[in-house]
Amino acid sequence: MSTEVAQIGDKMSDMGIEDHQERKFYPKKNKNVVLPAPNNMDSMIKGLEMLFDSDHVNIDEVKRYMSEYKSNPSDWHKYAKFDAHKYTRNLVDIGNGKYNLILLCWGEGHGSSIHDHSDSHCFYKMLGGSLTETLYEWPKGKKKTVMKQKNSFSLKENEVGYINDSYGLHRVENKSHTERAVSLHLYSPPFDMCQSFDERSGHITRCKVTFWSKYGERTPYVKPCKPEGENN
Ligand SMILES: [Fe+2]
Repeated sequence: MSTEVAQIGDKMSDMGIEDHQERKFYPKKNKNVVLPAPNNMDSMIKGLEMLFDSDHVNIDEVKRYMSEYKSNPSDWHKYAKFDAHKYTRNLVDIGNGKYNLILLCWGEGHGSSIHDHSDSHCFYKMLGGSLTETLYEWPKGKKKTVMKQKNSFSLKENEVGYINDSYGLHRVENKSHTERAVSLHLYSPPFDMCQSFDERSGHITRCKVTFWSKYGERTPYVKPCKPEGENN
């Protein structure tokens, strides 16, 4: 076993992961890193720190790792804070400054505006319920036109999605009128401003993204920008 693998193995033992679990090999900086499937959300958080240890982000690797965690509400209920009128963004971890990990809580019928992701990676995993993602093309030119929809699909519990600005823009919605939804989003690098788009005209509004809570504690109210405020 190489020194690198031994060190990672030591970290994994700190995470309470048993040796007999299935292990997978992920390439990283020309080395092989042993990263077992996370058996709870805290283990996944520690594993994500390792995956983002270098400056290179392996999109498929992160998606696969996040998909291997099987959602257990007892892992994340302390972060799950709902609002009656709008979905909430609840900070879970800052990944040593490499990313923000945020739990989003969607009440029945809640949805985001159409938005970009400020040149960051956006991974999101369904922890409960189902969400519908609709992709849009970037507006062309300054002329006001209805934004062009590309495609739309739904994600169910434990499925993982991904988007960055080269894919286009998106809107995320909980279309259920009877069930809430919870999703875990990872943005790397983290950002605090993004753009919101009006579907009818393509008009852009710069928005500050805010947190409803941090580490399970409610944050002071921050007035969102108009018309739709924070995005995900
Ligand atoms: Fe988004």
